[in-house]
Amino acid sequence: MNILGINAYHANASVALVCNGRLVTAVEEERFNRVKYAAGFPTNAIRHCLAEAGLTIREIDHIAIPRNPWARMGRKLFYAARMPRFALDRIRALKHFSGIHEELAKACQVAPETMRAQYHRVEHHVAHLASAFFVSPFDHAAVLSTDGLGDFASTMWATGEGDRLKVHGAVGFPHSLGLYYTAISQYLGFWKFGDEYKVMGLAAYGEPAYQREFRRIIKPANGNGFSLGLEYFCHHRTGPEMTWRDSDKTPVQGQLYSPYLEKRLGHARTADEPVERQHKDIAASLQATLEEAYFRLLNSLWERTHQKAVCLAGGVAFNCVANGKIFDETPFSEVYVQPAAGDGGLSVGAAFYVHHQVLGRPRSFVMDHAYWGPQFTLEAVRLALESSGISDSFSVRKLSDEDLVRETAGRIAGGKIVGWFQGRAEWGPRALGNRSILVDPRRAEMKDVLNQRIKHRERFRPFAPSILEEATAQYFERSHPSPFMNLAYAVRPEKRAAIPAPTHVDGTGRLQTVSRGTNPLYWALIKEFEKLTGVPVLLNTSFNENEPIVLKPEEAMDCFRRTKMDVLVMGNYLIEKPNPCESSS
Ligand SMILES: [Fe+2]
Repeated sequence: MNILGINAYHANASVALVCNGRLVTAVEEERFNRVKYAAGFPTNAIRHCLAEAGLTIREIDHIAIPRNPWARMGRKLFYAARMPRFALDRIRALKHFSGIHEELAKACQVAPETMRAQYHRVEHHVAHLASAFFVSPFDHAAVLSTDGLGDFASTMWATGEGDRLKVHGAVGFPHSLGLYYTAISQYLGFWKFGDEYKVMGLAAYGEPAYQREFRRIIKPANGNGFSLGLEYFCHHRTGPEMTWRDSDKTPVQGQLYSPYLEKRLGHARTADEPVERQHKDIAASLQATLEEAYFRLLNSLWERTHQKAVCLAGGVAFNCVANGKIFDETPFSEVYVQPAAGDGGLSVGAAFYVHHQVLGRPRSFVMDHAYWGPQFTLEAVRLALESSGISDSFSVRKLSDEDLVRETAGRIAGGKIVGWFQGRAEWGPRALGNRSILVDPRRAEMKDVLNQRIKHRERFRPFAPSILEEATAQYFERSHPSPFMNLAYAVRPEKRAAIPAPTHVDGTGRLQTVSRGTNPLYWALIKEFEKLTGVPVLLNTSFNENEPIVLKPEEAMDCFRRTKMDVLVMGNYLIEKPNPCESSS
């Protein structure tokens, strides 16, 4: 039974292949076409998934599409009558989806009539819920999906029981925690798709001084969890949908906040203005009020389900600061957030939904690691190195696993910036030790060094720690595993000086707990670093420079060459620049 999940014509276009109930591979189109958050049709990702499994599109039995244009049609028609642009967007979306069979045939270079797969449409938030629960380790759990908007809903909650999801309720347009966060991020001058992450980092520098006002922006609502103070927003009048820049299919969100918000909070910050105290306080108020609404939702979900575990999905599930507080603010004692909690994960969710809920097959799969993307053999790495001519300029050595780990740990402990390229690419937006840039967490200056040499991020944005799973409790105030870097915990006060570089200004870290079972090589590297330094932690940031995370050896070499990275480790090859550039830091 082969099921292809395809998230197309939507942010984070992605594809997942599920064969006999097990995930074979999953990948976002952005990794291939090099356009961050790419939408459009994921031709490259489809070709990869089929090739990885040695299948042709004719051997696919079911195709799961995480979008149902007919969902909430009454509400859509109501708004379409008031907003002509929105009506046009709806028609365009319907047109896209009605041609998906032909588009797929074209991508796979077969005649459309030779494909026998049955198509299934899975509503956006149902696919999110499925992406969280059906791959979780839990047989029973509460499930919550919260994002901007998908199929005209922003939030949905359910109980997961075995191979069934039972949806209890949803919040529809125009009320949305995701749009709320995006609107205030825009007001603060952060307009790019995905910038909410920056604002979450900024929030730690402020105080929630504006929370009284913010409690008018998001209010509790009976049965619905929350509602927006619509006077602060304009999406309910001008249209909610995202557009796609024609040139590269980058998602663009129009202005969401209204003039009334500026009247209440003062002029919006433009992107080139300095970040002042009030911006930090507004970010802190935004975050604090989001958390209030989020925990209200979670607590009422617990009241309804009385489950120990909760599974989370949707863009808001990337709010690691809020996720890390769930244990304190709700009765839930176990949390699962799969690595592609945002719209990228819809392809996995839709495919598993079809397998379990539509076809009635039992569960047999747990996503306990994130390494579901393409991989390159050592021979492919060797050929890439050879054809690049990199050895003309840099030292290239092939080492045993043991020497590789020992030498790499030594370079990191010596203050070098190391690009680490191993095995299968990560599924989801976080680099988790296979396409990572690694540095010494003990050196406070490494945050600035990384920014100056490679990342060019705003100074207020934190970097994240990877820690040996078994050492978590020594360094953090919680030890619940966080294998996908989507929970932030307080670093123990006595350990903050030991790992200053990935400890945020508020004393927290968005940690990745690394287990020996799921990534033995990365675990061994951190273990070796611990032997050298006494610290079982590395600072881990994604292997990229203002682009999607590198996928292929060629892209890793390109990034290594054009930035001031000191060392590149690809497979068993260790590549070093001849003149280490400490002086330029
Ligand atoms: Fe979504």
